Amino acid sequence: MRPALVTALAAAAAFGLVACGFGEEGISISKDDPSYNGAVLFATRCSGCHTLSVAGSQGTGNRSARAQGPNLDQRTETYQDALFAIQNGGFSGAIMPQNIVVGAEAEALARFVAGYAGKDVETPARPDGASP
Ligand code: HEC
Repeated sequence: MRPALVTALAAAAAFGLVACGFGEEGISISKDDPSYNGAVLFATRCSGCHTLSVAGSQGTGNRSARAQGPNLDQRTETYQDALFAIQNGGFSGAIMPQNIVVGAEAEALARFVAGYAGKDVETPARPDGASP
C-alpha cells in the first residue's frame, strides 16, 4: 500500500472516532452552574442519539442512523415534556429507551434540557416552555 493511502485511511478512522461525539469534554457551561450535573448526564447518557451543543453532543450528526433523536438545539422543551420523554422513552415510545436515568437525576436532566434546548430556535414553538 502506498504511504499516502495509508495516511488517508488513518485520518478517516480518526475522524470516525471523533465524530461519535461522546464524552464530557465538550460541555460549555460552568461547573458552578446548577445545570452542570444535568449537562454531564446528557453528555454521558443521551448524546449518542441527540444533538445539544451546550453539552458537547452531536448525536444527530449521523443521518443514516435510524435511532437518532431530534436535534435539541432546534427544539424547545418544557420541563414536563423533557421529564415525560425521559420516563416514557420519547413521545412515541418507539426507539428511545425509557428511564435511562431516574429519580433526582432524571429531574436534574429534565431541568437542564428545558433550560438549554432550543438555542437555535428563533421563534420558540412553545414560548411558555423555556424554563421550568
Ligand atoms: C437510542 C437513542 C436515544 C437515546 C439514548 C435518547 N433518545 Fe431521546 N429520543 C430518541 C428518538 C428516536 C426520539 C424521537 C421519537 C420519540 O419522541 O419517541 C427521542 C425524543 C426525545 C425527546 C422529545 C423531543 C421532541 O421534541 O419531540 C426528548 C426531550 C428526548 N428524546 C430527550 C432525551 C434525553 C434527556 C435522553 C437521555 C436520558 C435521551 N433522549 C436519550 C432517541 C434517543
